[in-house]
Amino acid sequence: MNSKYLPTIMMTGTTGFLGQYVLRDFLLRGRRVVAVLRPPLADALPRLTRMLEQIGIDLAPFVESGQFVPVEGSLPDRLPEPDWGPTEAVLHCAASLQLFSNGNGEPITTNLEGAAALIEWAQAHNIKEFFGVSTAYTCGWNRGVIAEDFHWPRPDFQTDYERSKWQAEILMRDWAEQSGGKLTLFRPSFLVGDSETGYTCQFAGFYQLARLIGVLKQHYSDPGNGKLTHIPLRIPGRPESPQNIVPIDFVARIIDEVIHEPRFHGRIYHLTNPEPPTNDMMKRFYEHYFGLYGGYFADFDEVVGHCTPAESLLWEQFHLLTPRTVHNPLFDCANTREVMAARRIEFPTLDLDRLTKLLDYATACDWGRQTKATPQNI
Ligand SMILES: NC(=O)c1ccc[n+]([C@@H]2O[C@H](COP(=O)([O-])OP(=O)(O)OC[C@H]3O[C@@H](n4cnc5c(N)ncnc54)[C@H](OP(=O)(O)O)[C@@H]3O)[C@@H](O)[C@H]2O)c1
Repeated sequence: MNSKYLPTIMMTGTTGFLGQYVLRDFLLRGRRVVAVLRPPLADALPRLTRMLEQIGIDLAPFVESGQFVPVEGSLPDRLPEPDWGPTEAVLHCAASLQLFSNGNGEPITTNLEGAAALIEWAQAHNIKEFFGVSTAYTCGWNRGVIAEDFHWPRPDFQTDYERSKWQAEILMRDWAEQSGGKLTLFRPSFLVGDSETGYTCQFAGFYQLARLIGVLKQHYSDPGNGKLTHIPLRIPGRPESPQNIVPIDFVARIIDEVIHEPRFHGRIYHLTNPEPPTNDMMKRFYEHYFGLYGGYFADFDEVVGHCTPAESLLWEQFHLLTPRTVHNPLFDCANTREVMAARRIEFPTLDLDRLTKLLDYATACDWGRQTKATPQNI
C-alpha cells in the first residue's frame, strides 16, 4: 500500500450510474479505492474504464499506481479476502433497481442479503465506518415532510425495491447500534444526468416519460399543422406537486464531501432536490421541448384505467411510475444543506437550459441504444 493516498475505502457498485461518479471524485481527491467488480474481472474492468472515459477519467494510471484496486466479487456470497492492506471504510453503492420481485430473487438477493453479507464482512474485518447508499423512497407512502431519520414503524411501500432498501437500512442501523460502528446513509431521490454535460447511462423515470412523449408527438404530429401538435391529454397528478429529480454530479459531490469530513459522519442525508420542479413546470418543459400543447392535470383515478388512446400511450406504458406523479413527499434536507453551506456548494437548479441539456444528451445517444455521444461531442 502506498501512504501517499488517503486511507483505503472498499466500494461496491462502481460500475453503476452513481458509483462511477463517486469513484471519479474519490480518485481525483487522492483516495485509495478497492472496487468490488462482478466477475469476470476481465470484462468488468474494461467496462468500468470505458464508463469513466465518458466522464473524463483515464483509469489506467490509477490502476498502475495502486490507487485503484479492482477485485472480483459479488453480493451476497462472493466477497473478497482483503489482501490489499488495511481498509478504513466501506461504501456500499451496489443495488438491484428491479422494482418488483419476478422470481429471480431480486431485489431481495442483492439489496437485503447483499447488505447483510457486506455488514458481516465489515464486522469480520473490524471496519468501523460504513457508508450506505439507500433511497429517499424508503419513506414508502408516508406523506408530509420526510425527516432525515429512520422510518419507523415500517411504512407501506409502493415497490419491492423500496421495501428491500428499507430493510437494508434497518440492518445497517442495527449493526451500528450493536457494534459501535458508525453508519452514514445517503438517500438520493430520482437521479438524472450530469448538470454540466447532460451525460447519463440510465434512461428510466424522467427519461422514460420523455421518450414516450416523443413517441406520442411522432404519432400525432401533422406537418400540415406547423411545429406545434395539439393533444388534449389528461395528466394524472396536481400541477403544484414537486418532481424530485436530482443531477448525478450533485449527489456524488455531496457523498464525496461527507465521506471526507468526519464531523459529517453518522447521519442520514436526503440527496434530493431542494427546489424541485413542479409537475406544471415539467409539463411546460416537455411541451416546449417536443412542440406540444393541450395537456391538463386531472385526478389520478379519473385517468388511470380510463385512458384515451393518446393517454394510454403514456400512462399505460409508464404505469410503474405513475404513483410517483401523485405521491410527492417533501424531503427535509437540513443535513445536506449544512454540507452545502460548509463547502459552498450551490444546487444546480434544473432550469430550462439544464433540462434541455439532459434530453439533448439522451436523444443524441438514442436513449441509451448508442454509446457514441460523449460530454465532449454533443
Ligand atoms: N438511479 C436512481 O435513480 C437512484 C435513486 C435513488 C437511490 N439510488 C441508489 O443509488 C445506488 C446506485 O444506484 P445506480 O443508479 O448507480 O444503480 P445501477 O446503475 O443499476 O448500478 C448498480 C451497481 O450495483 C452493482 N450490482 C448490482 N447487483 C450486484 C450484486 N449482486 N453484487 C455486486 N454488485 C452488484 C452493479 O454491477 P454490474 O455493473 O456488474 O451490474 C452496478 O455497479 C443504489 O443503492 C440505488 O438503490 C438510485
